[in-house]
Amino acid sequence: MRRTCGDDPEDSYSYESSLKHIKSILNVCPLPFMWETADGCNKSEPCCVSLAENNRIMKRVAIFGMGYVGCVTAAGMGHAGHHVIGVDIDAEKLSALDRGSSPVCEPGLDDFIRQEVEDGLLETTSDVEQAVQGSDVALITVGTPSSPNGGVVTQSVERVIESIGQALSGTDQDYVVVMRSTLLPGILEETLGPLLENAIGEPLGHRVHLCNNPEFLRETTGLRDYDEPPFILVGTTNDECAQAVLELYGDTEAERIVTDTRTAAMVKYACNAFHALKVNFANEIGRVSQECGIDGQAVMDIVCRDHQLNISPAYLRPGFAFGGSCLPKDVRALVRFAQRRALGTELLNAILPSNDEHLQRGLKRIRDTGHRKVGLIGLSFKAGTDDLRESPLVILAETMLGQGYDLKIYDPYVRATSLKGTNLAYVDRHLPHLAALLVDDPDVLFDHADVLLIGTDVADDVDHQNKFYKDTIDLRRDLVNGRHVTEPIK
Ligand SMILES: NC(=O)c1ccc[n+]([C@@H]2O[C@H](COP(=O)([O-])OP(=O)(O)OC[C@H]3O[C@@H](n4cnc5c(N)ncnc54)[C@H](O)[C@@H]3O)[C@@H](O)[C@H]2O)c1
Repeated sequence: MRRTCGDDPEDSYSYESSLKHIKSILNVCPLPFMWETADGCNKSEPCCVSLAENNRIMKRVAIFGMGYVGCVTAAGMGHAGHHVIGVDIDAEKLSALDRGSSPVCEPGLDDFIRQEVEDGLLETTSDVEQAVQGSDVALITVGTPSSPNGGVVTQSVERVIESIGQALSGTDQDYVVVMRSTLLPGILEETLGPLLENAIGEPLGHRVHLCNNPEFLRETTGLRDYDEPPFILVGTTNDECAQAVLELYGDTEAERIVTDTRTAAMVKYACNAFHALKVNFANEIGRVSQECGIDGQAVMDIVCRDHQLNISPAYLRPGFAFGGSCLPKDVRALVRFAQRRALGTELLNAILPSNDEHLQRGLKRIRDTGHRKVGLIGLSFKAGTDDLRESPLVILAETMLGQGYDLKIYDPYVRATSLKGTNLAYVDRHLPHLAALLVDDPDVLFDHADVLLIGTDVADDVDHQNKFYKDTIDLRRDLVNGRHVTEPIK
């Protein structure tokens, strides 16, 4: 039997079972829905609604692009009591919606759409002007597929933005345009913003706002993901605009995060890249485990039980390259094992080269200052230890010395005379003249250097901000003189 969309009760997220059933809103509000404009509640047709008793603001929302994201969003917004106008260029999708059925296969979605169409909360149109006039907020959920070279095709979003702008031009309508489609940072700010401004004929940020609100749902669990998102992320620096978007989510239980548009866009890519990375990591560990005659499922099951270091924020902050006596050696051993058996563990193979790339970036930062007299704070792989084995800062120091830099190092945990065993052997190989480079007093370092390199948290205990006034590179955060350096786009 052909399995139809949502016929598996395990998969489905039913209209009735949803936490935020619209009837619960109606029950606590004795009034029928009253859609209220921003300037007062006196329109009979739906516009922006305030249900003052339970503090719910109901809005008129136009959703551009009734595909997977658009339909789930429409269902969620309608379900929360907003009035939704679905817009698409695909007439078949609109007529399916008008008949009360979902044009995309998503478990449970049909029920939501049918109910909302019946309740008059979901309408459709292909007429952009009509949609814009009948709404206060536009959510853009059109596709942003890959171009043949891997770039983002922005044709559809550009078209929608331009047509919304044209519909708004010559009006005095207040409006918020929300980008939910996935776009690389910069596209909204550098392409779509100017396009919208041109089409409206006035600058953004006054009566019309443009922001982003990335979507994190997954197909097949779309409704549940919509209702229980990891967070609600809005990219805007305008409080009013942020408020307007957050109101769309009513009482959805999720952390609200408002940040700038570029950060919001990047978060979406970081999340998807992280998911993809996790899948490949688990698969490669599975492959190596299998080769060892071990059940990879059992391995990863135990790995996932560690919420201190594995499934946790640990190791998930951009900083300097990793090092120390364990990580590099153990990754190297795993990679060698896999390579000798041709397991094709491309992700694991890339870890050490990626780490080295980070170190090279640090060296470039130093080179770019043009200074030759360098002061390095921190030498061991992290503050609080004298373990120098495979410390990236030792490699950095060794490379700088090889390139003729005049280097001094301050690390109170490292005493050249106290190093022993493999730690001493490592230093003898890489920094044989360590004793001559180390200084006991950070002031000596400040006097010597034209550029200060902060390698570890040792720097937090020396007052370099008030004592050193030349160039400072914080390798821990990839900051130069306290700021992120933007590389020119090649
Ligand atoms: N599918 C997912 O699971 C998912 C999850 C999160 C984010 N996203 C992102 O959301 C966006 C939409 O993804 P999707 O899977 O819903 O896409 P989709 O292809 O299913 O839907 C896009 C819809 O936009 C319509 N459209 C195209 N041009 C239009 C125009 N000018 N005016 C109105 N409608 C137009 C298409 O006809 C189509 O119905 C993408 O940027 C995607 O990366 C998708």
